Amino acid sequence: MNQLDLRELYQWEIKDDALRKLEEWKKLPTLYQLALDELKNKIKLIQTEWKIHNGYSPIEHIKTRIKEPRSILEKLERKGFALTVDNMVNQIHDIAGMRIVFSFAQDIYSLLDHLRQREDINIIEIKDYIEQPKPNGYQSLHVIVAVPLTLFEGQRWMKVEIQMRTLAMDFWASMEHILFYKYDKQVPSHVIRELTEAAKAADALDKKMHGLRREIMGASEIPAR
Ligand code: GTP
Ligand code: MG
Repeated sequence: MNQLDLRELYQWEIKDDALRKLEEWKKLPTLYQLALDELKNKIKLIQTEWKIHNGYSPIEHIKTRIKEPRSILEKLERKGFALTVDNMVNQIHDIAGMRIVFSFAQDIYSLLDHLRQREDINIIEIKDYIEQPKPNGYQSLHVIVAVPLTLFEGQRWMKVEIQMRTLAMDFWASMEHILFYKYDKQVPSHVIRELTEAAKAADALDKKMHGLRREIMGASEIPAR
């Protein structure tokens, strides 16, 4: 083989590699969507069983979303990672996102305990902003999980970020998001203070409801947390 042939071969290898990466990139949104669908079905099944055993559904609603390509690239840049498919998959944990909104905070921990025991869900990371709210008052339980997809190539575990919060926490987070988005983060300090107070009011509302629930249902029937 002369030198020219070798170079051609090299060029083809590069093209081949680029093509493989492009195919992988094209496939990703579908894989993340499938992971969300799988996880949502698992949660729905838990919800149904819970209803049969306890007589009520702990979950108000479930929302899912796939992160926009622009946001993925911005996040990679912000975190100082090269814009590669590998980094996307390994460094960004919230490409697939699920938000589960509960009536009561205690039920969030019951679901977490259940998720911990399952072999078809891998818990990668837990951030408990309910136990330890953010300085602005934000509360939620963030759990990064991986769920398996069975593909032709074998089993592939896909990451999903689950945000679990109560109706009151969700109400506050939605408002805060709208306000900060609209005012481009140039919010006067007294507004920030009042927003944090509003978060405390939401927390007090959750605690009040928990107290009422304990009185109505009896302390023994509901989780203490
Ligand atoms: P990100 O780069 O944003 O993912 O930061 P992180 O990896 O430290 O994630 P963290 O778990 O703190 O927050 C991730 C997500 O939680 C955000 O994308 C929001 O959806 C939500 N979140 C976190 N903090 C706040 C907040 O103060 N207000 C609202 N409305 N949402 C928040
Ligand atoms: Mg995150």
